[in-house]
Amino acid sequence: MSAAALTSEPALSPIVAAAARGELPEWARASQKRRAHIGRVAALLGEWAAALGLPQAEQTRWLAAGWLHDVLREADPDELRPLVPEAFRHLPGKLLHGPAAAERLAGHADDELLEAIRYHTLGPARFGRLGRALYLADFLEPGRRYEPEWTAALRARMPGEMDAVMREVVAARVRHVTESGSVLHPETRALHEQVEGA
Ligand SMILES: [Fe+2]
Ligand SMILES: [Fe+2]
Repeated sequence: MSAAALTSEPALSPIVAAAARGELPEWARASQKRRAHIGRVAALLGEWAAALGLPQAEQTRWLAAGWLHDVLREADPDELRPLVPEAFRHLPGKLLHGPAAAERLAGHADDELLEAIRYHTLGPARFGRLGRALYLADFLEPGRRYEPEWTAALRARMPGEMDAVMREVVAARVRHVTESGSVLHPETRALHEQVEGA
């Protein structure tokens, strides 16, 4: 790589660089069990970024997205609610940690990384590739007990068939939400329509 290419890469903030090494900020609220989940998500993202042949700085951002996505997962939702933008205040408590982490990381990470973290529980239609990869890694990491054979088969198709895997995962999550009698969030519905039409 030329010196010009090196200097044109945006510098990663200390928080993002540390997260990519598996070190969470001191304001993290995540139990040991949660950190194990977070580590598995980051490992999948690192594996996929390398398999896609992404430049080193990109691979670092993907790893950081994994490590930071649930950084406030165990914070009290009542404390997170006032911190998130108006549009997210109505969300169920357990979905607030994405938008709240993005607010906390603002100024320390680029927009694509912040958006991936902000929306990882909702899955919006405007996800970029990193957002899609985080959404899938969060769902497909091998520690989850949900349909282990199916998720193993989907993992085996990543990252080469990311769009097709995304369609299957979104369809399954939408089915799960509607069958449980819950109302689908408009962002999730928009994502479903987008991937079905793709
Ligand atoms: Fe999460
Ligand atoms: Fe997660």
